[in-house]
Amino acid sequence: MSTQAKTLPGRYYTDPAVFRQEMETFYCEMWFCSGRTEQIQAPGDYYLCEVAGESIIVARDSSGAVRAFYNVCRHRGTRLCTVEHGRFDDRIQCPYHGWTYGLDGKLLGAPHMEGGPFYREDYPLHRVNAEVWAGHIFLNMASRSSPLKAQLAGLPDKFAPWAMQDLRMYKQHVYKVMANWKLIVSNYNECLHCPILHPMLCSISDPMSGDNEVPQPTYIGGAMEFRGAAQTMSVDGKRRRDYLPGLSEAQRKRVFYYAIYPNLFLSLHPDYVMVHRLWPRAVDQTDVVCEWYFHPRELAKLGFNGDDAVDFWDATNREDWNISELSQKGISSRAYEPGPYSAREELPRAFDRMVLDRERMRR
Ligand code: FES
Ligand SMILES: [Fe+2]
Repeated sequence: MSTQAKTLPGRYYTDPAVFRQEMETFYCEMWFCSGRTEQIQAPGDYYLCEVAGESIIVARDSSGAVRAFYNVCRHRGTRLCTVEHGRFDDRIQCPYHGWTYGLDGKLLGAPHMEGGPFYREDYPLHRVNAEVWAGHIFLNMASRSSPLKAQLAGLPDKFAPWAMQDLRMYKQHVYKVMANWKLIVSNYNECLHCPILHPMLCSISDPMSGDNEVPQPTYIGGAMEFRGAAQTMSVDGKRRRDYLPGLSEAQRKRVFYYAIYPNLFLSLHPDYVMVHRLWPRAVDQTDVVCEWYFHPRELAKLGFNGDDAVDFWDATNREDWNISELSQKGISSRAYEPGPYSAREELPRAFDRMVLDRERMRR
């Protein structure tokens, strides 16, 4: 009997019930990346994070700590805040009857509640766990979550040389992709498709080069090397910026591509970092936020321009989204059945296994 690994059954990409279950498993029970600390630099700054049918307020409180709360008033449940990002003047007020909360979530004022057995301290905003790694803000909705560092395992040490906390955003693109989120993860994790789909990428980096790390329970990834005189992923392979400080000789010669479950891709280049965050919206629809980060010393240089990197990846991103959409269409056919993986597709295979393992753990 053949033991060849095959792709997942179609329902994993088409069934809204599987999708809802996955949102619970991956977004409500794991740490996911919501954004960056630079989005909320000053006390009172906030952004909203919409995920798994929830709206979460992520804010910096007056002590400088990052806090997260469900966007739900404790009076009659109304959504508190609808503007995507902004700054609270030291309190959050419900637009319905005016209950007000501090940036630490404490209920400060509740009009008309006098005269009954009512204690303000019983009604703080419902908290969502928030932790920061290297400038990335992670959230966890589970009431008893293990610390973020358990999920990140060896990554903070491995990626310390890129000092992502020091980098600043240059550009952001938001893409609407009509494909299941898992197709986007699988696509990111193999480059067998690169010679056909990404001729520009293959002229700069050899898709057969480099190696993958042994797949981990919470992330997968590997590195690729440059071809010929190329020194970074840009439209022509030229590196127009200094190497990020802190990289070794070996790290300067490669790009590291890591998918950290459930929603963060880190693409670490010798002179910049690209970040993708996935936001599943429906079983066949995913918003992808892609951002490019550079060292502040480079950004401050007169005439700085990082578009060689942005344009290169924007073109490559679109090629990947397009093929992911075609995969979604084909998998939605009644003719689809799981197909065989090659030995070189070990990362998508490991990802599928992890999806099945987590599904089994819930039963
Ligand atoms: S629902 Fe928010 S104050 Fe009444
Ligand atoms: Fe690709």
